[in-house]
Amino acid sequence: MRKPPKTFFIRTYGCQMNELDTEIMAGQLLKKGLTPSLDEENADLLIFNTCSIRDLAERKVMGKLGLLGRASRKNSIVGVTGCMAMAKKQTLFRKFPHLDFVIGTNNITDLDTVIDEILYTDHQIHKTDDRFEENLDYLIAKRDSKVKAHVSIIRGCDKYCTYCVVPYTRGEEVSRPPESIVDECRRLADEGYKEITLLGQNVNSYGKDRPEWNCLFHDLLAKLDAIEGIERIRFMTSHPVDITVGLMEAIRDLPSLCEFVHFPLQAGSSRILKKMHRIYTKEQYFEKVRLLREIVPNATLGTDIIVGFPTETDAEFEETYEAMKELRFSVAFIFAYSARTGTPAKRWKDDVPETVKQERLQRLLSLQNELGQEERQQFLGQDVEVLVESLNKDGKHLKGRTRCWKKIVFEGDTDMIGTLQQVKVQGFHHQTMIGALPGRQIQKTSKLKVV
Ligand code: SAH
Ligand code: SF4
Ligand code: F3S
Repeated sequence: MRKPPKTFFIRTYGCQMNELDTEIMAGQLLKKGLTPSLDEENADLLIFNTCSIRDLAERKVMGKLGLLGRASRKNSIVGVTGCMAMAKKQTLFRKFPHLDFVIGTNNITDLDTVIDEILYTDHQIHKTDDRFEENLDYLIAKRDSKVKAHVSIIRGCDKYCTYCVVPYTRGEEVSRPPESIVDECRRLADEGYKEITLLGQNVNSYGKDRPEWNCLFHDLLAKLDAIEGIERIRFMTSHPVDITVGLMEAIRDLPSLCEFVHFPLQAGSSRILKKMHRIYTKEQYFEKVRLLREIVPNATLGTDIIVGFPTETDAEFEETYEAMKELRFSVAFIFAYSARTGTPAKRWKDDVPETVKQERLQRLLSLQNELGQEERQQFLGQDVEVLVESLNKDGKHLKGRTRCWKKIVFEGDTDMIGTLQQVKVQGFHHQTMIGALPGRQIQKTSKLKVV
């Protein structure tokens, strides 16, 4: 029998779903009696919770695993979880013989038994079910923050955008029962949490797989808004097709629902959108944004964009450029297309040269930068509501976010952590706002220059 592990370290890649899965795995391991280690090199149990969304994300983990194989880590247990575990399954053992386990996104509850099995048998174990069974004990999640929490409401994705691995790595959509979500949020409120972010690849699909619950996304939002103590509710992410008038009205009417909406456009050309299987045209997207801004005039928008999708011409890229200029997103995540094994788009020639993809990427990044500067000027001198999350890295300032998801730092007392404060925006350091409480002036420090 192998020596039972005493300490663990989990390295997390990818999106918020993976961050939450890490918190749930950490909770299981703490319950099992292990203690977290800050030392990746020497932890008895080392887990890589991986992402497959783009080639680079996978290459980073592959590089790490290769290095570990060469180092002598005889006594430690090493495993891969997350989306790459689903994309590569047991083939990972061939490439990395020192790996002890591969656990997919739908099997994180099996972590405890898999570790026991390895200890007793010293065999390599893989568990990669295609479908998620709603049997997770979400309440054991070990969260770092005491102020804001991620809460899973739906797992998987049924949208099948042609470039995307997620439907294959996370399986089909499975909603979590509303009582379980409400119960977790109530407990979080009792523990003092002030903000929850509802997570799903497509939160607006919530409840559609279980019509008998009679609880769609906006119904769920109303239930959660009623919980005493939760000041802010956010959600990540939503597919434009499912951003309904009902949801827009919920954002307008429910006090805790923040006015920041992640509204991923992906491309500005209707032909490319069709090829991506996004199921909306550019015109339909623009119309939805118009409607949202009419119903919620102070809404701010976030987006995801892919440049260099197969066959994207210069003129089609210009449409994306113009769309971003016109729509003025407050936050934009911009990516170069990366062909993924198993997706329909992988069968098409990845025909936009890497140099062209990079040029397009840079043009959009500098456009977004310009738009960001203009947006920041408008914030100057304004009072914003800040949920104070923690001490800033410099150890001197407090750090928090506005309702529209802007990061802000300001001087204050640590007992303000977990409270809402009105803060005046006085300057910026890169994207971060620098503010001051009423009656206080900003202190310039070497780390925080006021511009
Ligand atoms: N469910 C979310 C997206 C999850 S993936 C949604 O639909 O909005 C996050 C982002 O990664 C996507 O929005 C997309 O912009 C990007 N992405 C996904 N697959 C990609 C690929 N193959 N190449 C480049 N970017 C990709
Ligand atoms: Fe991927 Fe599309 Fe699903 Fe988002 S909606 S996770 S981009 S398949
Ligand atoms: Fe990556 Fe999986 Fe999230 S592929 S982006 S970790 S759903």
